[in-house]
Amino acid sequence: MFQERLAQDAARLQDHFDLILGALDDLDVTRAMAYATRGGKRLRGFLVLESARLHQINESRAIWPATAIEALHAYSLVHDDLPCMDDDDLRRGRPTVHVKWDEGTAVLAGDALQTLAFELCSRPEVGDAEVRADLALTLARASGAQGMVLGQALDIAAETASEPLTLNAITRLQGGKTGALIEWSACTGARLGKADPEPLRHYARALGLAFQIADDILDVEGDATKAGKRLQKDADAGKATFVSLLGLDAARTRASELVDQACAALDGYGPTAETLKEAARFVIARDS
Ligand code: IPE
Ligand code: IPE
Ligand code: MG
Ligand code: MG
Ligand code: MG
Repeated sequence: MFQERLAQDAARLQDHFDLILGALDDLDVTRAMAYATRGGKRLRGFLVLESARLHQINESRAIWPATAIEALHAYSLVHDDLPCMDDDDLRRGRPTVHVKWDEGTAVLAGDALQTLAFELCSRPEVGDAEVRADLALTLARASGAQGMVLGQALDIAAETASEPLTLNAITRLQGGKTGALIEWSACTGARLGKADPEPLRHYARALGLAFQIADDILDVEGDATKAGKRLQKDADAGKATFVSLLGLDAARTRASELVDQACAALDGYGPTAETLKEAARFVIARDS
C-alpha cells in the first residue's frame, strides 16, 4: 500500500539524517538542524527514491540526493516560518525552530541545512563526477532566484499587491515556491541514470501544482491538529492562491485534472510507474 511505502522511505531517510547529523558537533545550531529535519511526509525524498527505482538505481546512491532534498526543504520551512516571513509558531505538530530556540539559530540552521544539501549531492557515493555536478547545478537552479526563492519572493510581494494576481501569475508563483523542488526530486532518478528526465518533468510539473493547490485548500478547510501547522492564515495575510482566485470547488477540480495529467505523463513507463501515480493521487487526498 502506498502509505506504507511512503512511511518505509521516511524511516530510511530518518536513519540517514541520524547518521549525517549525528557526526556534527553538539551545538544549538546542529540540534536545531536535526529538529527541523524530523517528521513531515518526506514526499520529496520519496520522489527521489522512487524515480531512482524506476531507473534501476541502487538505493545506496539515491539515498544521498533524497536526504539532500529533504534538508533543503527543511531549510525552506524554517525560513518560511520566521517572523519576517509567515510568522508561524507551529510546524509538524511542534514549535517552530525560532520559537524553540531563537531567530538567529533558526536562520543559521536553515543556512547550514541548505549547504548540507549541496554537500550530500556532491558525495562520491552518488555517482561519477558528471552526475554529481549535474545534481548540484540543477538543485541550485531549482532552489534559488529562478526557483523556490523566486516563488517565495513573489508570494511575499503578492501580499501587498494592489490587484489580485492572474491565474498565470499564481501558476508562476507556485511553480517556483513548491514546484521547483518537487520537479528536481522527480527528475533525480533519471539524472542518476543519465536518462531523459522529460516524462518525469511533465509528471512533476502537474504534481507540484496539484500539491500546492491541496496545501491552499488545507489552509482553508483542513484540521490543524492533523496538519501540524496553523491554518486559516493565507486569506488574512493576503496570500495569492488558486483558492483565493478560483474558489474551493474550481480549485479542487483543477487539482484533480492536474493529477490525471501527472499520471498520463508516466504512461510510457508501464506498470513500474504505478507507485508514482499513487503518489499523485495521494497529494490531493491528504489531510496533512
Ligand atoms: C509544506 O510542504 C510546504 C509547502 C511547500 C506547501 P509539505 O506539506 O511537504 O511539508 P512536510 O515536509 O510534509 O512537513
Ligand atoms: C511554503 O509555502 C513554501 C516553502 C517553504 C518554499 P507555504 O507558506 O504555503 O507553506 P506552509 O503552509 O507554511 O506549510
Ligand atoms: Mg509561505
Ligand atoms: Mg508558510
Ligand atoms: Mg500553505
